[in-house]
Amino acid sequence: MTRISLASLARDPEKLSSAMADSQRHPFLHGLSKHRGAPPTVVVIFGASGDLTARKLIPAVYNLSFDNLLPADFFLVGYGRKPIPDGEFRTLAAAAIKEFSRRELDASAWGRVAAHTSYVAGGYDEPAAFDRLAVHLDDIERQLGRDVQRMFYVSTPPSVFAPILRNLGASGLAAKHLGQPPHSKVIIEKPFGKDLASAAALNETIRSVFEEHQVYRIDHYLGKETVQDLLVQRFANSIFEPLWNRNFIDSVQITVAEEVGVGTRGGYYEQSGCLRDMIQNHTMQLLALTAMEPPVSLDAEAIRDEKVKLLKAIQPLVLGPGGDTARAQYAAGMIAGKAAKGYVEEEGISAESRTETYAALRLSINNWRWQGVPFYLRSGKRLARRVSEIAINFKRPPGTLFAEEGRFDLAANTLSFQIQPDEGLSLILNTKIPGLETRTQPVKMSFRYATTFGSNTPEAYERLVLDAMIGDGTLFIRGDEALASWKLCTPVLEAWAAAGREGMRNYDAGSWGPASADALLAKSGHLWRQP
Ligand code: BG6
Repeated sequence: MTRISLASLARDPEKLSSAMADSQRHPFLHGLSKHRGAPPTVVVIFGASGDLTARKLIPAVYNLSFDNLLPADFFLVGYGRKPIPDGEFRTLAAAAIKEFSRRELDASAWGRVAAHTSYVAGGYDEPAAFDRLAVHLDDIERQLGRDVQRMFYVSTPPSVFAPILRNLGASGLAAKHLGQPPHSKVIIEKPFGKDLASAAALNETIRSVFEEHQVYRIDHYLGKETVQDLLVQRFANSIFEPLWNRNFIDSVQITVAEEVGVGTRGGYYEQSGCLRDMIQNHTMQLLALTAMEPPVSLDAEAIRDEKVKLLKAIQPLVLGPGGDTARAQYAAGMIAGKAAKGYVEEEGISAESRTETYAALRLSINNWRWQGVPFYLRSGKRLARRVSEIAINFKRPPGTLFAEEGRFDLAANTLSFQIQPDEGLSLILNTKIPGLETRTQPVKMSFRYATTFGSNTPEAYERLVLDAMIGDGTLFIRGDEALASWKLCTPVLEAWAAAGREGMRNYDAGSWGPASADALLAKSGHLWRQP
């Protein structure tokens, strides 16, 4: 391969565009260095006939196979209550790929996985079934003639997390190969607990069976390209760090808005609500990555240490009327020209439901960097548009120049990270409107991933499954991190539970949420952005 220097690329636009086209052909492989090879692995999926397995996990494994990122000795074992013959499990998996994968089903890429795919039926609280699983895994190793790492993916409803973990311990599956490669590890899906006490209890159960370095707690937002790019933008560019503090930043807004309602997930959602479902995990992770101090290295522990420090520096929220929180439920409305039902009319939801489908918080971070800068977080279902973004609002320029009609109303500079959709980054700058007078107008400078890199980026779960196989915990939540976030959210949940429906507001489906959320910002003279 010919070596091309960056300087020569910069001088030669033709070479540059051909090099970019080359990198776009294999955008994922291109960024991967040689050391990312995963060791021989068997992945056992608990909850193998569930929705997440079909929508995300099987397609992720398939796409890793397509990109030749699976180890040559890779085995997939589905585990679930339903008795399913091996062949039928493979057929279901192929159907899931056809329906949900970002790529068409390719016979050879799927064939390599299918040849090593099997299924074990058993209960989650049935020790004998775990013994059968252990025999099955031993058989795989015997036929292969070597040990392989064992990765247990717990993708079940949370009510059976603890029995699965205990049985992995009791059957000896968790401890097998402990301490030396190949070893066992466990991936735990969300929700990780429903409050501080239950998350702490789950951590205890995990620790009685696995050591922390064997545990991978999922937050799929961390697998999103744009979320990883936050670290790169912040720490691979020298222009941001000097400005990234209370001297230059006025406020930060993090929005995770969805257009969808609860659909058929009412049963789950009634037990959860927006604060547990989106804020405690995904939104808080976005906040932690935005506001944490620069880590000393890109090592998983270094990054997670900084995130924990940041989460611990957030002040307890002021609860009750006029405080730092707002919650609401969607009422009937219109989304994209179509009528949408209200939350309490959805399947399985009672008319008296006290579950919030929208939550907003105003947070204060009490550290040297951020003291006095409000961080506003909001998330909700059935909002006007699906959009997740982090907007950094800088302080306004001093009002001494560029007055119009006697008023200084230059726009504040805003840097916004567009997490999804239409992934990218934009900066609002004030610019002179061409003409003989000096008049100004805010303009937007944008970078879009799809334009620069093409749009076939890997799904979050591909990255997460591969990282867990390789043993890189950077994009997973550490036990103390989960607790720090729950510590902040639990008093809010308790206050809301105690207040019942008092303080619960409605917002029209298709709107940007309740007026009570505007009031959170109004105190400091801020307004929510229209993303
Ligand atoms: C999940 C929540 O964690 O994230 C869902 O349980 C939500 O309620 C989903 O719809 C949103 O994920 P994404 O990747 O579509 O933004």
